Amino acid sequence: MIRAILLRLSNSAGVKKLLNTWPIARRVARRFIAGETLVDAVRVVRELNAQGFFATLDPLGENTTREQDARHSTDEILETIEAVQRERLRSGVSIKLSQIGLLLDEQLCFDNLKRLLAAANQSGIFIRIDMEDSGLVDRTLDIHRKARSEPGWQYLGLVIQAYLYRSQADLKRLAGGGTPIRLVKGAYQESEQVAYPRKADVDANFDRLTDILVETALQADGRPVDGTGRIPPLAAIASHDDERANYAILSAEKAGLRKDCLEFQMLYGIRRDLQMRLRDLGYPVRIYVPFGREWYPYFMRRLAERPANLWFFLSNLVRR
Ligand code: FDA
Repeated sequence: MIRAILLRLSNSAGVKKLLNTWPIARRVARRFIAGETLVDAVRVVRELNAQGFFATLDPLGENTTREQDARHSTDEILETIEAVQRERLRSGVSIKLSQIGLLLDEQLCFDNLKRLLAAANQSGIFIRIDMEDSGLVDRTLDIHRKARSEPGWQYLGLVIQAYLYRSQADLKRLAGGGTPIRLVKGAYQESEQVAYPRKADVDANFDRLTDILVETALQADGRPVDGTGRIPPLAAIASHDDERANYAILSAEKAGLRKDCLEFQMLYGIRRDLQMRLRDLGYPVRIYVPFGREWYPYFMRRLAERPANLWFFLSNLVRR
């Protein structure tokens, strides 16, 4: 119930405007966000790299409604790629297609993606396309398919969401093509028509999809994380759930998949203990580092995932 309300509010321009003006909201959001500038984000990634973690930088932005904003977002992503190269960060970049124009015009979005791919091809920096709400999944997969005939396509990866009924079929279709996959539970408000409503079913599907990912990676000789830490292996498990991580470890061990072929990914500011445990076990661990001024919808999704975050936020409001 609370989750549904918060996810609905994540699309509200009015609440966004309100929270953006509240210093307390910005302070609480900082737990999940590296800062509002690229300089902040570079500093955080440098620290993470020094601790043995890889990163993926997310210049925040989504649901862009004007062409010039989509181009501006693309420019910001290009600056992020340049910073990764210049600062020699062990990091990739994560983007959303709605950030670069998917809701406006598919051709515009594709042209913007091509600019990013050209930069990826030149710098060897990996770009992960985040998966957004179920209404955008077909279009995201279509654009990804089209991008596979462009230079730099091999630096492109996708996300599969375990809460969607369709994901097993999507993953099997993508499996043979060598596309690196990040497996997540799914963060949007979805109907029972398209997504498992019960957490136990999402978790069970997550484990089934993990088995498919492990098997796919094995068939491709594992394809480990590269020496720079910039290009992830084919299989990435993105969850803060101990049971999902433990299941993935067992699945990989049973199948004989090497540790450097199974990456764990987590969000900045969440489950540091688990991040360190998996790193110390010898797995690649990549931290998703969002930054920028467009933090509102990302922050609301983090509140929705865990009611305790909401109480923390509200208690800060009351204490001021
Ligand atoms: P679950 O929600 O069951 O949480 C397990 C435990 O983790 C909790 O008990 C708690 O301890 C901790 N935890 C989880 N969320 C927390 C939070 N917000 N604050 C504090 N503690 C928390 N989704 C999507 O739809 N498209 C995408 O592209 C991505 N990309 C992505 C990248 C990466 C690297 C990660 C880790 C996640 C995503 N997600 C995503 C989000 C994902 O779908 C999901 O919403 C969150 O990861 C929360 O689910 P968990 O798997 O962590 O499990």
